Amino acid sequence: MKSIVVANWKMNPASLRDAKKLLESTRKVAEVAKNVSIVVAPPSLYLRELRAAYKGKRLSFAAQNAHFESEGSFTGETSLPQIRDARVTHVLVGHAERRAMGETDEDVKKKVHAALDAKFTPILCIGETSRSSGGEHYVYVRQQLSGALRDITPTKLASIMIAYEPVWAIGKDTSMGAREMHEMTIFIRKTIVDMHNGAGMNIKILYGGSVDEKNAADMLINGDVNGLLVGRVSTQAARFASLISVLADL
Ligand code: PGA
Repeated sequence: MKSIVVANWKMNPASLRDAKKLLESTRKVAEVAKNVSIVVAPPSLYLRELRAAYKGKRLSFAAQNAHFESEGSFTGETSLPQIRDARVTHVLVGHAERRAMGETDEDVKKKVHAALDAKFTPILCIGETSRSSGGEHYVYVRQQLSGALRDITPTKLASIMIAYEPVWAIGKDTSMGAREMHEMTIFIRKTIVDMHNGAGMNIKILYGGSVDEKNAADMLINGDVNGLLVGRVSTQAARFASLISVLADL
């Protein structure tokens, strides 16, 4: 079974030396796991050097964020042309941790558009902060999807990946249940198809939030997802290797 794994290193590790070591172990597992496409998202400061040193074909690289403007007075930001110049192909957009720092739906929309215009694969992160029995989280997820994808043409939809990450399951001990994810996957796909007059049926949907070597296979098989977005475990070489080898055997 084919799958996609996005390794979101977040603001880790603390040195370029350690980042190189982590990339080397990620490279090795990727060589063996032929049915798993791994996208590595290191901190932007390491991205160019790690990408330049990587000579293989199995790994893709993502930025964890990018500004929607291509240049200008935006202190502390990184532009899509700069990321492109580092030969990076993917970009995370609207990660929950960035939204928590103030990124709005409008920013996210502009970033998705800018990333598509610059020929990147945007990995659009969505997910509610909390759940109640009334099912309001479905309304919330629909709003996030329509906010970000409203004016996207059907052809461009094919280049987007959706990463559903319920904020309440990020950085915790356990992930969301695979059965619940199955329902959410159907909901996301249906919402996108309804918004785009039938287009988007094959959009790639990933799950993220406390994915580890124990729950990954269940989520992939029973959650009806195309892949996983992995945070903490992606920076622990041995655990990440076992997670990938579990997926390689599916
Ligand atoms: P986690 O992070 O796997 O550490 O929960 C996931 C994410 O936020 O990308």
